[in-house]
Amino acid sequence: MSFFLLTGVTSGIGSVVLRRCLADGHTVCAVVRRDEQRQRLRRAYPDNLDIEVAELADRPQVSDLVARLQSRTFDYVLLNAGGARVGAYHEQSMEDIDTVMQANLLSNMQIVHGLLPMIRQQRARLIFVSSISARVPGRDYAAYAVSKAGLSHFYAVLSVEYPEIPMLCVEIGPVHTDFHEKAGLQLENRRGFKAQELIGNRLYNAMLRRTGVTTLAFDWACGRLLLMGLSDIVRRVLRRRSARPRATAPPSP
Ligand SMILES: NC(=O)c1ccc[n+]([C@@H]2O[C@H](COP(=O)([O-])OP(=O)(O)OC[C@H]3O[C@@H](n4cnc5c(N)ncnc54)[C@H](OP(=O)(O)O)[C@@H]3O)[C@@H](O)[C@H]2O)c1
Repeated sequence: MSFFLLTGVTSGIGSVVLRRCLADGHTVCAVVRRDEQRQRLRRAYPDNLDIEVAELADRPQVSDLVARLQSRTFDYVLLNAGGARVGAYHEQSMEDIDTVMQANLLSNMQIVHGLLPMIRQQRARLIFVSSISARVPGRDYAAYAVSKAGLSHFYAVLSVEYPEIPMLCVEIGPVHTDFHEKAGLQLENRRGFKAQELIGNRLYNAMLRRTGVTTLAFDWACGRLLLMGLSDIVRRVLRRRSARPRATAPPSP
């Protein structure tokens, strides 16, 4: 039996991981953001589940959470919670941008910072849930994409600085969860989306065994590599064009 710290378990991929952990007889400390979520989960899973409440977009609440967690030991720390706000960058409020950055990136940096002594001592496994949008630029998700790129890079930096800690960074593609509605996007069709059960189960299996970076699906891995290659080519062409001297450039003094 192992001890897990899980964030983002009230719906989607994290709810599948929570179910798997408890079904396999592990003990879980789950972080949720509201007290009614704590009560609901407590009724659904009366055994082996301890629940902490913290709004991860609120820095002082995360500091309090970290203080409460520091006396405990875990074998696995899964940082899965995350959310987005959809829209053109100039139409987003700075408040929304801050919320996404704090919830998706800075809260995870705070949690890792506070728990690192325990993680190093226990050789606990650290798992980050990132997104392929960390690698491939798209529109209407600027803050989200930047927060996930930061998270993926945070993983990369930590894995160099602490090679002894087993770490996994999961950069997933579209999954059929509540994520998009919460972000304010009404999707008419979800072609190409994977089921949350499938990805939740793959995440659970990967977190027990794997380290490094993974996408959890072969087609996402190929798509990511292809898109990274294409976006790199486009960027290079644009850079070359903008570096060319303009025909109308004023004569140099
Ligand atoms: N679904 C996709 O297509 C997709 C693609 C790439 C990456 N991901 C990533 O996968 C992870 C899981 O997402 P999901 O698809 O399972 O979405 P989801 O069903 O919306 O689950 C997200 C979980 O994170 C929690 N959460 C979000 N913001 C929080 C905050 N500020 N404080 C505390 N908890 C917070 C949510 O709590 P509430 O129930 O209170 O909202 C929920 O439990 C996220 O990191 C997401 O960025 C998802």
